[in-house]
Amino acid sequence: MAYSHIEVETRGHIGLIRLNRPKALNALCAEMMAELAAALDQFEADDNIGCMVLTGSDRAFAAGADIKEMADRQFPDLYAEDFLATYERVSTCRKPVIAAVAGYALGGGCELAMMCDFILAADTAKFGQPEITIGTIPGIGGTQRLTRLVGKSKAMEMCLTGRMMDAEEAERAGLVSRIVPAAELVDEAIKAADAIAKMSRPIVLMAKEAVNSALETTLAEGVRFERRLFHATFAFEDQKEGMSAFVDKRQPSFKHR
Ligand code: CAA
Repeated sequence: MAYSHIEVETRGHIGLIRLNRPKALNALCAEMMAELAAALDQFEADDNIGCMVLTGSDRAFAAGADIKEMADRQFPDLYAEDFLATYERVSTCRKPVIAAVAGYALGGGCELAMMCDFILAADTAKFGQPEITIGTIPGIGGTQRLTRLVGKSKAMEMCLTGRMMDAEEAERAGLVSRIVPAAELVDEAIKAADAIAKMSRPIVLMAKEAVNSALETTLAEGVRFERRLFHATFAFEDQKEGMSAFVDKRQPSFKHR
């Protein structure tokens, strides 16, 4: 499939998606987000793919929703079409998606990164929710996901002042899993994706579902849900293979069954 605003490639069992609107610092226009959703649909449906990586350029992961495209839009239309609802596609992926962020991840760009399962940051990364500076507020989960990830105080400061965080502050705050040199960002993300893609695919889905439930439910419910999923892993051949490989001191050979 030919895309205009993203580049898509398959590397082994990994689907790599690169946002590619350099002149607009990868601002999220409607067409780009429809392309991103289509690429994710394709990778989700492909049994060969075990993990996806979403990245941008050295200068910007994405500098936000496209301000020029939305500046003159009117409330009745935004409301009727539920504008931005379709921009949430990453958050509904069942397979893991890693965000590899260099440069600006602002507004919708920061929100898109937070929809991914974890964020690897280049030492050049800058995160922010500057919508307040242009007379609006985050619209694809910024106030919700940032607050859950870094806590109320820092999320509130960022959403009310528009201040950016650099990679080190983002790592300290728990927004990113780790920082890597910019030149190694995509390779490191591919390495992590490769490690995930080598695991049993259905068990990876369960692990992701269990971690995500921590953000949605009480501790007691979450622990119960986790235990039920743990029990369910024993319905898979891969659990038997994984544990017998450990006992036999060999590498497991997962069949994704
Ligand atoms: N939308 C549309 N175009 C954008 C853009 C955006 N979010 N961000 C940057 N661009 C464009 C600029 O207009 C400029 O285009 P022209 O060359 O045609 O003028 C080009 O990208 C390069 O940008 P700058 O010249 O501004 O580059 P800079 O290095 O001086 O500054 C920046 C970089 C600090 C990221 C600055 O571009 C900036 O502040 N961008 C806007 C950030 C922002 O407010 N994002 C939030 C958007 S609203 C949102 O995302 C709502 C939501 O939650 C869904």
